[in-house]
Amino acid sequence: MAEILSHKISGLPRRRFDSVIVGAGGAGMRCSLQLAQSGVNVAVLSKVFPTRSHTVAAQGGIGASLGNMSEDNWYWHMFDTVKGSDYLGDQDAIEFMCREATSAVYELEHLGMPFDRNEDGTIYQRPFGGHTANLGEKPVQRACAAADRTGHALLHTLYQKNLEAKTQFFIEWMALDLVRNDDGDCVGVVALEMETGDLMFFESKATVLATGGAGRIWAASTNAFINTGDGAGMAARADIPLQDMEFWQFHPTGVAGAGVLITEGVRGEGGVLLNSDGERFMERYAPTLKDLAPRDFVSRSMGQEINEGRGCGENKDHVLLKLDHLGEEKILKKLPSIREIAIKFANVDPIKDPIPVVPTIHYQMGGIPTDINGQVIIPDSQDGMQGSHSVVEGLYAIGECACVSVHGANRLGTNSLLDLIVFGRATGRYLVNKNISAEGHRRVPSDGADKTIERIKRLDSNKSGEDVMETGDLIRETTQKYCGVFRNEELLKKGVEKILDINSSMDKLFIKDKSSVFNTARIEAIEIFNMIEVAKATIISADARKESRGAHSHDNFAERDDKSWMKHTLWFSEDNRLDYKPVILKPSSVESFAPKKRTF
Ligand code: FUM
Repeated sequence: MAEILSHKISGLPRRRFDSVIVGAGGAGMRCSLQLAQSGVNVAVLSKVFPTRSHTVAAQGGIGASLGNMSEDNWYWHMFDTVKGSDYLGDQDAIEFMCREATSAVYELEHLGMPFDRNEDGTIYQRPFGGHTANLGEKPVQRACAAADRTGHALLHTLYQKNLEAKTQFFIEWMALDLVRNDDGDCVGVVALEMETGDLMFFESKATVLATGGAGRIWAASTNAFINTGDGAGMAARADIPLQDMEFWQFHPTGVAGAGVLITEGVRGEGGVLLNSDGERFMERYAPTLKDLAPRDFVSRSMGQEINEGRGCGENKDHVLLKLDHLGEEKILKKLPSIREIAIKFANVDPIKDPIPVVPTIHYQMGGIPTDINGQVIIPDSQDGMQGSHSVVEGLYAIGECACVSVHGANRLGTNSLLDLIVFGRATGRYLVNKNISAEGHRRVPSDGADKTIERIKRLDSNKSGEDVMETGDLIRETTQKYCGVFRNEELLKKGVEKILDINSSMDKLFIKDKSSVFNTARIEAIEIFNMIEVAKATIISADARKESRGAHSHDNFAERDDKSWMKHTLWFSEDNRLDYKPVILKPSSVESFAPKKRTF
């Protein structure tokens, strides 16, 4: 159990754990399970009930080269991931993830995760975008699936196992800020109990950010409303740079007008994209992988079809995803939730009619820079290209809020759930191996929560100024309009101006209606402090990158430029400074994959 200490921090009550994990999605709960099973005193803070974390929405599968359907191996998986990343992923980290994938999935199977099964009892695997056999030769079935509810099955499995292991959950507690001491070490977080509005300091030897992405900084997104970049915002305010934030993935198949995700597993099972001529246009753009090319490729191809007048519907603003030819039985067995989503959100039954789809923001490739043990790292000098870095003692980040970097400029589908379980486990294992329970606590500054308390007091006392809801809308409009699928100099410059303008009024943020839903409105206001950090990082980093790579498609610089831009971006909140650091091209046990032109 937690020690409750009498010595307060900035007047706040204080609880002490070996480790505090912020976020109860796949990464957070995989990490906490490793810790709790080893007897580490671990607390998990979550804004929502754990099984409502956004991992629950993941549909199509977890990538691992089990080879259950045909020959496969981790090296092919690594090749696809490096190529998918448009060569911006760090090859040592990608090698680690692809090697660890099979054991991480078998472990889930043994924890009781209800995967779909083949006749012979092995885990069912389906094809997914960008995953190939024999270094790009043909699609391979690598996505380990539980129907189209893989994230749901994963999250429920992890939650049950965490309960059994006696992980301590603080549900509907929102972390507000990291606390660092004079040595720069992280000593815990200040958090808010959402029901009461009370603040508490959670002291920790290992604070692990597992807060997910920030897809809600965009107007149209497949993400849950809770995905407001809380970990990234906290890190940015604590002087930690955010890495590669210009790279945001547009998932090709969001329901047009609603944004809800339609899994790539639909195309994995044989669904196809059609334009207004009824043409399967992906055959023209990607002759080998067709509809199963990586997402940046498919999204841009869809955009081009729409821009050239071959979009569907009255406004010619979407394309169609056809799957009726799969047959009712297969749709009901393998894609039951997709059918439900299509009926509810698009008013079509995909057993008979195609689903209208558009590319929709789905995933944040960048985040808090870490090594493969989840340790947060920052460059040693003002010039990150020198390559050396130090760890921020006591601070870790995993999952979508982190940038290891295994996804580079474009993530492959199924590598997100994989990232969660591989790096959640690796970080837990690292902390257990270093015997975190036996370590002493670091010195905590007695005024460590002062800044947070001031910020909250200001928010509560402002009687007029910038309305929370309107400010949120402004942020979302700005990212969407000025930093979308196709970017250019003019748009990005305007975007930077707009977002800095919004940022300048953050101190004036005020809650209009404090009477009825005070804490809900207050939570939304607090989320805006995080969203603005992520939005600034995104647009400023995108404006600076003068090339097109992966998900960053820049009309004025249409080609990838390895000579000048084969480097990771680092954005610092304090002065909006940008720095860069090298991409790690050398894996640990195999030859590098040299950058090549990407064709599929
Ligand atoms: O399409 C999907 O099912 C999404 C999977 C992913 O983002 O990895």
